[in-house]
Amino acid sequence: MAHPIIFDTDPGVDDAQAIAIALAHPDIELLGMTTTYGNVDVTTATHNALLLAELADQAIPVAQGAAAPMVKPRHPAPAHIHGANGLGDIDLPGVRGQAEPRSAAQFIVDTVNARPGEVSLIAVGPLGNLAAALQLDPALIDKVKQVVVMGGSIKEGGNVTPVAEANIFNDPHAAARVLTAGWPLVMVGLDVTHRCVLSPSHMARIEAGQGKLGDVLAGSYAFYRDFYQEMLGIDGCCPHDSCALAWLVRPELFTSQRGHLNVATEGDAEGQTIFAPENRAFIEPRWSRSPLADVCLGVDGDAVVEWITETLA
Ligand code: RIB
Ligand code: CA
Repeated sequence: MAHPIIFDTDPGVDDAQAIAIALAHPDIELLGMTTTYGNVDVTTATHNALLLAELADQAIPVAQGAAAPMVKPRHPAPAHIHGANGLGDIDLPGVRGQAEPRSAAQFIVDTVNARPGEVSLIAVGPLGNLAAALQLDPALIDKVKQVVVMGGSIKEGGNVTPVAEANIFNDPHAAARVLTAGWPLVMVGLDVTHRCVLSPSHMARIEAGQGKLGDVLAGSYAFYRDFYQEMLGIDGCCPHDSCALAWLVRPELFTSQRGHLNVATEGDAEGQTIFAPENRAFIEPRWSRSPLADVCLGVDGDAVVEWITETLA
């Protein structure tokens, strides 16, 4: 069965790989991409989304969205991880197409309302576009099929602070709205993405299978791999954003727990995702007041990496 999706993204090396999956997988119907700042500024994110679709010879609507967080100032983009151009600083061709005239939030609202109950929102960047869409149409919570968020961390610890994952830290106020909105939501965070390591040999298979797009995926991967080698001492990369699509198509590869999510928006814990398992009593009820969500805590990492590689090889 095909999954109609909107892919909300800040491409970004691992975003680019996930976009390639969304473009290639026969069970995914990519209705559009919405872009946000994060790994790069939002105009670069839009350029990269348009480019990746063009390299795959597909005409996919791209709607530009958030340029900055809702409340706090924007942190500089992590050029040491993704390159200044978001794709490992490799030379990139120009793009022919243009972004939609509509904002990302309006695109989400219109697209979900055109197919109520069918569309999954897959969010793999800071969550300002989804928060803005909720502001435009609060009834979206009953009209989306589901929301899959690559972001957050429960037991794994953070990747940009001791406790915070990058997408949540980049806009904790938007994340607080999105993760507690009450729509059907799955969090695919560092607890599972750090268990998936895509090695150079996997990447070689992907490069061989993806034509012009494969050159960009492999060239940018080489830059991203250097970061993982220096920071985590692993030979390979965590395909964070592809894991959200792996959950969409192959949820049986993951184990999850149901409970209440909250997001710290200030102080040393800024950007931390806090998880209170369903039916567990704590000293006060305040952590268990938010709507229930599903949080991925376990994964067959080898199987996910194989699924990614087979999809693209
Ligand atoms: O923490 C991982 C997330 O932040 C991914 O979405 C990746 O693209 C990075 O920006
Ligand atoms: Ca991302």
